[in-house]
Amino acid sequence: MIVTTKQLFKAAYGKYAIGAYNINNLEQTMGLFRGNLDSKAPFIIQISKGARSYTDKLMLEGLIRAADQVFPDAIFAVHLDHGDEESCYDCINSGFYSSVMIDASAEPFEKNIEITRRIVEAAHAKGIVVEAELGQLGGVEEHVQVSEANAKLTDPYQAKKFVELSGCDSLAVAIGTSHGAFKFSGTQSLHFEVLAEIQKRLPGFPLVMHGSSSVPQEEVERINAAGGNLKGAKGVDATQFHRAAQLGVTKINIDTDGRLVWTRVHREYFRDHPENFDLRPIGKVFMSEYAKFIAEKNGYLGSAGQLDEVRKLLSK
Ligand code: G3H
Ligand code: 13P
Ligand code: ZN
Repeated sequence: MIVTTKQLFKAAYGKYAIGAYNINNLEQTMGLFRGNLDSKAPFIIQISKGARSYTDKLMLEGLIRAADQVFPDAIFAVHLDHGDEESCYDCINSGFYSSVMIDASAEPFEKNIEITRRIVEAAHAKGIVVEAELGQLGGVEEHVQVSEANAKLTDPYQAKKFVELSGCDSLAVAIGTSHGAFKFSGTQSLHFEVLAEIQKRLPGFPLVMHGSSSVPQEEVERINAAGGNLKGAKGVDATQFHRAAQLGVTKINIDTDGRLVWTRVHREYFRDHPENFDLRPIGKVFMSEYAKFIAEKNGYLGSAGQLDEVRKLLSK
């Protein structure tokens, strides 16, 4: 069942975070639904602009519609990840997405508000909710690299003003995470003090943490042992998700970790089965490993085991 992120955030606020997972293809879609149902978790499917144009945006929509029928017990939101104005309007008008992100975080404060406000008006008119972003994460996004030094943490005073003036339904905040597999040049530093200040000024308002992959060292080592070359890859300690959730983070974005699962599975499989050229056996291994990864991640997020409670809340 497709719901809005707003409905999921109401159930989760202050207690746990909903996993927001990026997908690009059939195998990820199957693994995603299985993993969430195995762990009894509500979830968010994220589709980036890059994923929409990987084949054709209608292909991913078709996969999700089919998965909704194949897995009738699943409760999830369909969300545009890092949209610009054009892709936001496209998703709002498609009638399929329940949530869009307008990412005008690279614009000056006033312009970010102005753009976000326009999207909010168009989205709300159709019952679609809007995530906006204030501050700037480091890392790679849509092929643009922002260095750690140029990343800007969200200003808590501006956050309150931004939410009031833009009318957005949730806010992505920069508190030290970054996109991609190479986070934190030194030791990991999530700025919980900034998050606490934001929550103080926006009590009860859903916050979003992007760039939250953990980049598990075991995964990186297995990839490198099977011919990969990911030196110095590092991520967010997943045991910190709970603290973030208590401070108002209701959505945690994870993409890179899923890509690492894909890379590890494929590198190891073809190393160990050099005679194989059939795509189905490896596809089956990946779907199963991806489902395991999702279920485990939901354990850290606290969303595992919440599905029945969310179903009850939705039926009230
Ligand atoms: O934040 C970006 C997401 O990881 C999506 O990545 O634009 O390569 O699909 P993508
Ligand atoms: P990661 O690169 O840490 O997985 O972050 C993904 C993300 O923020 C998608 O919007
Ligand atoms: Zn992101």
